[in-house]
This record gives sequence, structure tokens and C-alpha cells, in this order.
Amino acid sequence: GLPSKVKIIDVGPRDGLQNEKQVVPAEVKTHLVHLLQEAGLREIEVTSFVSPKWVPQMADNAQVMQAIARRADIEYSVLVPNMKGFEAAVASRPDEIVVFASASESFSQKNINCSIAESIERFAPVVQAAHAQGIRVRGAMSCTVGCPYEGDIAPAQVESLARLLRGVGVDRVDVADTIGVGTPLKIQRALEATFKHFGVDQVSGHFHDTYGQAIGNTLAALELGVWNFQSSVAGLGGCPYAKGATGNVATEDVVFMLHGMGIDTGIDLDRLVDAGLYISAQLGRPSSSRAGTAIAKK
Ligand code: HMG
Ligand code: MG
Repeated sequence: GLPSKVKIIDVGPRDGLQNEKQVVPAEVKTHLVHLLQEAGLREIEVTSFVSPKWVPQMADNAQVMQAIARRADIEYSVLVPNMKGFEAAVASRPDEIVVFASASESFSQKNINCSIAESIERFAPVVQAAHAQGIRVRGAMSCTVGCPYEGDIAPAQVESLARLLRGVGVDRVDVADTIGVGTPLKIQRALEATFKHFGVDQVSGHFHDTYGQAIGNTLAALELGVWNFQSSVAGLGGCPYAKGATGNVATEDVVFMLHGMGIDTGIDLDRLVDAGLYISAQLGRPSSSRAGTAIAKK
């Protein structure tokens, strides 16, 4: 049967805002994190410790981590591409770091300027150093169904990447559809490839909604027992190295579906909608969340 509860990581402050062209002040990012906490999110992906030349919007990483009024019952994660990023991140005491790899060679080159194999070599000491400090490690797997440069990605490529990430000791992995081209059966094949190396409790779904498939893909993942998902409040986002890709599936839309199915998330949907309205107003554009927009109009 379907899971009775789901845990959502809101990745809006990171995945959602990383590609934003206008400057989003650290105070706004911090307030967004606070609104998400108040809405009941228990995992939040706050920022990334990447090169500010590559992703200028995340240059205030340490400042935002410092400013958050942290709660002991909430886990805060940050992206880290290499040891330099880890060393910068660790001062902010993240609960979890996220190393990010790609199932596609071309995307790996464009996103982190190295091959898949080189990325795994870089991650190995980062995972060790994180574990030595009691920090959990998640491995994000990009382009698990399609790549903006290579087109279709085969489940065997996903399996290979999951094996490599398991080999360097990451605790859990995200199956990401970076450009949102996945459809339910393709997503299930990518998840099943991942299950060869990680248990279902260690696998999360990370779906972008470019083609409107992300809610269907979420249901397809639930059918396989997946109960961890990443989404962005207000459907924020897009990846700087995946042109044309829109944001993650909106957290409001996922929560509306789950609550409608009787699946517990611990999230207060009305407060979540308010968080989405706040950040949308700050960005000066309407929310991309269908549920959020409908609820706000009631
Ligand atoms: P590089 O240019 O090959 O790095 O970039 P390098 O090691 O040759 O160093 C070049 C310069 O960058 C040096 O500075 C380093 O110190 C500095 P310089 O001597 O020129 O002054 N540097 C750093 N600075 C700050 N933090 C660091 C860091 N590392 C080196 N960590 C690198 C390689 C990985 C750094 C670069 O490609 C990069 O930052 N990429 C990040 C791209 C990114 O953030 N993409 C978006 C996230 S992935 C994503 O969104 C997908 C996901 O959501 C899942 C999905 O949907 O698919 C996770
Ligand atoms: Mg993403």
C-alpha cells in the first residue's frame, strides 16, 4: 500500500532561489526559512557552498545559515560540491550536506566542471570528513531520466551512479528529474535502478515540473513506497545549468495531494501557502503553485 506519512524537504531557499536573476537579500531568504519552519517543514535545504562565480545568488550562504533561528527538531541541509565547500559549510553546522552528481556525463561537466568519476573522487573525502563530524550525507543524482545535453538517460546510468555513491558511503540519495521530462513509468524505472543500492527509506524523489508531470511522478513514486520528497514552496526555481527547466514541483501542490489522500505530512497547508505568497511577493511575480493560488483566492 501507499505510505501513511511523507517527509518533505523544502528546497525552495536553495534550488528555488539559486537561479534567480534579481538579488534576493539574505534577510528575505532567512525569513522564508522561518516561514517554512512555522508551516511545519522539518527538513529545509537552505543554501549551497558552491563557487560564487558559478552561482552568485548563493554567495550569502554563511550569512543565511548564521541568521536562521534554528530549531532542534528541524534538519538544515546545504549543498557542497568539494572539500573547499565542505570546509566553508562546516562552520555553519549543517545537519546534512548534499553532494551532487549527475547520471549524465555532459551535465556533470556543465554543472560541476568534471566527469562523473572525478566527482565521485572529490566526494569520497567529503563524505568521510562529514561523517567524522557526525554530519549526515545525501547524494543528489541529477538527470535520472533526461539530460538537457544528451536526451534520454537509461536506468542503467542511474544504477551505475547509485552504486558509485553507495561506494563512497553517502547515507541516502535523491532521484532528481532535473529538467522535468520524466513521466510516471520512467520515474519508476529510475527509482527501481536506485533500489539496487539503497533501501526505499533512503531514496527521495526530486521532481521538476517543466512538463507538468511532477504530481503524477510523485504518485508513481509513492506507489513504489517512496516517502521522502523534495519540493519548492511556490514552485520556485530552475537550474542555472539546465536552460528552460522550471522550478521544482510546488510544495503546496504536493501537500494538497497528500492530505487529500489521507497521507500525513505534519505541514499546515494554510501557513505554507502564506510562505509561498511571501516569497512570490518579494520576487514580484505570481506563485507557480496551483493549489497555493487557489487557496489564496478562497
Ligand atoms: P571549478 O572552476 O572547476 O573549480 O568549479 P576549481 O576547483 O578549479 O576552483 C576555481 C575557483 O573556484 C578557485 O578560486 C576556487 O577556490 C573556487 P580562485 O582561485 O579562482 O579565486 N572554488 C570555490 N569557491 C567557493 N566554494 C567552493 C569552491 N570550489 C572552488 N565550493 C565547482 C568547480 C564545483 C566549484 C563549480 O563548478 C561550482 O561551484 N558548481 C556548482 C554549480 C551549482 O551549484 N549548480 C546548481 C546545483 S545542482 C542542482 O541544482 C541539481 C539538483 O537540484 C538536483 C536536480 O534537480 O537535478 C541538486
Ligand atoms: Mg533541482
